[in-house]
Amino acid sequence: MTELERKQDRAPVPSEWTYASAPEARDIVTLQERYGHYVGGEWLEPRETYTTISPATEEPLAEVGQATPEEVQAAVAAAREAFSNGWSDIAPSERAKYLFRIARILQERSREFAVLESLNGGKPIKESRDVDLPLSAAHFFYYAGWADKLEYAFPNQRPRPVGVAGQIIPWNFPLLMLAWKIAPALAAGNTVVLKPAETTPLSALLFCDVLRQAELPPGVVNIVTGDGRTGAEIVKSEGVDKVAFTGSTEVGKAIQRELAGTGKKLTLELGGKAANIIFDDAALDQAVEGIINGIYFNQGHVCCAGSRLLVQESIYEPVVEKLKRRLTTLRVGDPLDKNTDVGAINSKQQLDKIQELVASGAEEGAEIYQPPCRLPEKGYWFAPTVFTNVAQSYRIAQEEIFGPVLSILTFRTPEEAVEKANNTPYGLSAGVWTEKGSRILWMAERLRAGVVWANTYNRFDPSSPFGGYKESGFGREGGRHGLEPYLELT
Ligand code: NAI
Ligand code: MG
Repeated sequence: MTELERKQDRAPVPSEWTYASAPEARDIVTLQERYGHYVGGEWLEPRETYTTISPATEEPLAEVGQATPEEVQAAVAAAREAFSNGWSDIAPSERAKYLFRIARILQERSREFAVLESLNGGKPIKESRDVDLPLSAAHFFYYAGWADKLEYAFPNQRPRPVGVAGQIIPWNFPLLMLAWKIAPALAAGNTVVLKPAETTPLSALLFCDVLRQAELPPGVVNIVTGDGRTGAEIVKSEGVDKVAFTGSTEVGKAIQRELAGTGKKLTLELGGKAANIIFDDAALDQAVEGIINGIYFNQGHVCCAGSRLLVQESIYEPVVEKLKRRLTTLRVGDPLDKNTDVGAINSKQQLDKIQELVASGAEEGAEIYQPPCRLPEKGYWFAPTVFTNVAQSYRIAQEEIFGPVLSILTFRTPEEAVEKANNTPYGLSAGVWTEKGSRILWMAERLRAGVVWANTYNRFDPSSPFGGYKESGFGREGGRHGLEPYLELT
């Protein structure tokens, strides 16, 4: 017997079956102390800065710039110059080569980006590694393929680029939202000024290094960091021809007001309050996995999250029981641990919002369930939560919580399911779980949602257009549709 075997022989049987921690090595990421703005292919020393942190530990990570109006103007001017002096005229097949290069470099550096994304944003490494990074690269590959085929995508319409695109993105999928914005813009021959969200600037700043590696001509992509003030400067800048925004409905409405009458093109991808609808003939265990993925993926910081569960009354009890049991197996904690299912809440501000809405649910009369779990002391955390006894009028059934919080409602007939699902100011996505193909089609026809998933949830593919109805915004990203907002067609 070896020493190890003797030890194992004597080791007591664990009273609780658990995993040992499996942290991803952090040293693949080299952070700078301070970052500037990436303008015209150079780093511009920022005039004002703030500190970006890790939401899991509150540890400061780096100083980043808070772009002033002058700095935004410099970025817009660089984008304009790059647009006029070559980028819009080079052979489309050459543009495609840059996009292919960017996609390949993202694949090569995917572990580095995944670690950085989890560090700065709080999402589990399992998700940044298996979802954010592969999808970001896939998006560049996909639009690289369109760059020299625009004439075929829009036959007899003479597709031409719009000019300079101002792009403002949120913190829930920082690199992926960057890819959704930049890839179609460049494929169509535009240049870009992009602003990442104030809490998650680091992956966009690392992306500038990818642009250098790909030898993208200077000024084609410019990145400025900062909060909403910087975003507002981009929106109102006269040198910007097209604005693309993903974020809150409130800011989306303000941008629409600002741009009314200016002739600038605009696409908005805003909030959601999606129904995930479970019929009594659905495969229940699979449906429960779909419910979990629908609302606890990325801590529920997902615009298309399945935050309203509609369960057919006859299966209400088994579904709730299975769901609660499954909830106890979710591992909440260190985003860099490969076993972690639910990471940190992205910011103090978002945690406050979740806490306030959850308190309102309990006050209005819903019943709350949270599995026993120990939350870390430092950082921003919220336990996975389920509300039962929810009335349609409660705020937790109406408002976007954008956290790991599920509200359960019931229905009897398919007609009632449709009516309840559509009873929201939003219309981004929906889920339907049933064994009957005819019912899937019947439901999909009636649900006022940009995406309807059947017997799955939160599935993304660059070839599939994504976007909303009503207060979820307008315009589509992904697919051939995603090129349209970046083109003038005559
Ligand atoms: P937000 O809409 O304020 O921020 C999104 C982006 O817009 C950030 O880059 C921000 O700096 C920028 N921004 C803020 N004010 C701006 C302005 N006046 N002009 C131009 N850009 C501006 O969203 P926030 O405050 O981070 O989150 C609030 C709520 O919004 C969340 O709780 C969630 O319900 C929703 N949200 C929805 C998202 C989605 O994917 N549809 C993403 C992020 C938030
Ligand atoms: Mg805001």
